Amino acid sequence: MTTAAIIVAAGRGERAGGSTPKQWRMLHGRKVADWTIERFRNRVDHIVLVLSPDDAEAWAAFASSGLILAPGGADRASSVRSGLHALARHDITKVLIHDVARPCVSDRIIRDVLTALDTHSAAAPGLAVTDALWTGAGAVVTGTQARGGLYAAQTPQGFCYDMIAAAHAAHPGGAADDVEVARAAGIDVAIIPGDADNIKITRPEDFDRAERIMGTDMDVRLGNGYDVHRFGDGDHVILCGVKIPHTRGLQGHSDADVGMHAVTDAIYGALAQGDIGQHFPPSDPQWKGAASRIFLRHAVELAEQMGYRISNVDCTLVCEHPKIGPYAEAMRAEMAHIMGLRTDQVSVKATTSERLGFTGRSEGIASLATACLVKP
Ligand code: CTP
Ligand code: MG
Repeated sequence: MTTAAIIVAAGRGERAGGSTPKQWRMLHGRKVADWTIERFRNRVDHIVLVLSPDDAEAWAAFASSGLILAPGGADRASSVRSGLHALARHDITKVLIHDVARPCVSDRIIRDVLTALDTHSAAAPGLAVTDALWTGAGAVVTGTQARGGLYAAQTPQGFCYDMIAAAHAAHPGGAADDVEVARAAGIDVAIIPGDADNIKITRPEDFDRAERIMGTDMDVRLGNGYDVHRFGDGDHVILCGVKIPHTRGLQGHSDADVGMHAVTDAIYGALAQGDIGQHFPPSDPQWKGAASRIFLRHAVELAEQMGYRISNVDCTLVCEHPKIGPYAEAMRAEMAHIMGLRTDQVSVKATTSERLGFTGRSEGIASLATACLVKP
């Protein structure tokens, strides 16, 4: 059985205002579309992202993302059809169709829709209406409407691929969603419980609501790292990826980058995944003299695989010499580059220890680091 998700992202987001379509605007530190896509990663075998032919920047940004890209049409239904078409040769059994503008969709809903498709040809999340309903004209109530049996429709809406592809091909157009298209083709649609947090960003104020929902939902993790390397012979040290001329070198089985090691351990710590020594044993000759960026990249990739995003790292170097200040900006830039972060997410600072202790006697350099990781 092969599953897919089609994320329709070709709309212009006119009701949300702003100069950029809502899916490309920032929400809690990332683009709306990135949040939505992440919800489906590792949940389905293929993800199709339907993009407007006008969004050249998005086409370029997702070119090597591993997603299948498809061009959107003039209305939502034609964008969905394009997404279905892009899956035609992938032998899909179950397909989920989702609005990019619903970045807060829960794992539970995605799971429930997929599970419902084991026993139904179509299933979609709906929220039973609980508010009283009125009809109105202008600003005046003209009547009331019974709410019994009424549901607010959400996405992802799930279907047996062949059936929804045929239903869309046969539909004359003008449907509100894919459930309407399916029903027009005689397909029964099961309702699974929706979620009040699964909002569709539609109007400007919905960005604030979505931020609040994400803020309460997040798994935020902190990790700390600590490392020490002793001084030995040499004419330079490497700290946070930057080579600094010095009267001595640091000893260690790798390049002895004490700062980068502490940052790497902070990330492993946040993930509860041990430390550098476990992932790269000092007893293994292949890591002798290794560039520490290999360790840091490994920790960053592990975080990505586990669904975490690094929010920031902070590193403190403890030494009397060399002086760190002149190199701190270069260190931030280098570590940000290695981690795929912005420089403002990476802090490097230094302190002496008032000539006290081993760092004070210049026997070695110590480093402490903290990393903050978040999972939406
Ligand atoms: N959509 C699409 N192609 C279109 C129109 C809409 O892929 N031609 C997508 C939107 O990107 C969105 C979803 O359909 O994810 C639901 O549509 P809606 O919330 O109406 O988004 P927009 O059409 O972008 O917003 P607006 O109607 O305010 O312009
Ligand atoms: Mg629209």
